[in-house]
Amino acid sequence: MGLWRQMLRTLPFGPSGRRRGTQGRAFGLWPPCPPLPRLLNATELVSHWTGIFEKRGIPEAQVSSEYIVAHVLGAKTFQSLQPVLRTQPLTPQQLLCIQELCSYRLQRMPVQYILGEWDFQGLSLKMAPPVFIPRPETEELVEWVLEEMSQRPHVIGQDGPRILEVGCGSGAISLSLLTQLPESQVIAVDKEEAAISLTSENAQRLQLQDRIWTILLDVTSEESWTHLLPWGSVDLVVSNPPYVFHQDMEQLAAEIRSYEDPVALDGGDEGMDIITDILTLAPRLLKDSGPRFLHVQRSGP
Ligand SMILES: C[S@@+](CC[C@H](N)C(=O)[O-])C[C@H]1O[C@@H](n2cnc3c(N)ncnc32)[C@H](O)[C@@H]1O
Repeated sequence: MGLWRQMLRTLPFGPSGRRRGTQGRAFGLWPPCPPLPRLLNATELVSHWTGIFEKRGIPEAQVSSEYIVAHVLGAKTFQSLQPVLRTQPLTPQQLLCIQELCSYRLQRMPVQYILGEWDFQGLSLKMAPPVFIPRPETEELVEWVLEEMSQRPHVIGQDGPRILEVGCGSGAISLSLLTQLPESQVIAVDKEEAAISLTSENAQRLQLQDRIWTILLDVTSEESWTHLLPWGSVDLVVSNPPYVFHQDMEQLAAEIRSYEDPVALDGGDEGMDIITDILTLAPRLLKDSGPRFLHVQRSGP
């Protein structure tokens, strides 16, 4: 199978440039991309696309083009590309593929969705719109939890900790904790089917499916905690909940507004809607009122 075909199989788009079978909009090749002057090498192509992105006001112009070019050449980062791959001319197929991916960036699609995967705490996770893309701050939450757990070995029962994650998204937090706490088990809850199915898929990819239960549940629904009782009490509740003030949603970057699920971000008028429900639910499910970690960070829109 040729490189172009292999890439098409792994990309979220069909050969026509229209998104394959995902929810929401279909993404066409618009705006049209300027033609390339000649066959370029990877370094020249990064400069070429960085210039176009800058001219069109695309944020993180250089990083975006580096990630896309590296991805098409089979590397995670441009810096990790072998020097020879940076200087030899790309094939017409590679150029076409880069052109197609860059056209999605011109439509402000986040790089993580364009590449279809992203590293989190050393794990390679599948990313798909509209499921929330884990942020660097989410990694800090995982680190805090691990540090806290190491200081409280008594919290970890004989069979390792049972953890409840509310709002699992792509599964980034749950799967990192499962990897780093080998005896642990996780109950991962989300109200969105797309999130539940992405968490399950990522669990399968990482062969962690035997220690995670994914549950479609809206924690704001009445008596939602009763649906979780059959799984037994937990040692830890962790969540990176939606916390953006509803009135700030319109000011979020185009990448977020156009592609990420507003349900993952909108915390209501005071930013506290889901947080309040988690704080109500947690004591009913925690063993002996164990620790709970909420990741709440107000960042500029
Ligand atoms: C900020 S995202 C965090 C996703 C993931 N934990 C991460 O950090 O990358 C919040 C998640 O909460 C979910 N969510 C929002 N409201 C919810 C509710 N009422 N019940 C359950 N999950 C909810 C969203 O679908 C979204 O996946």
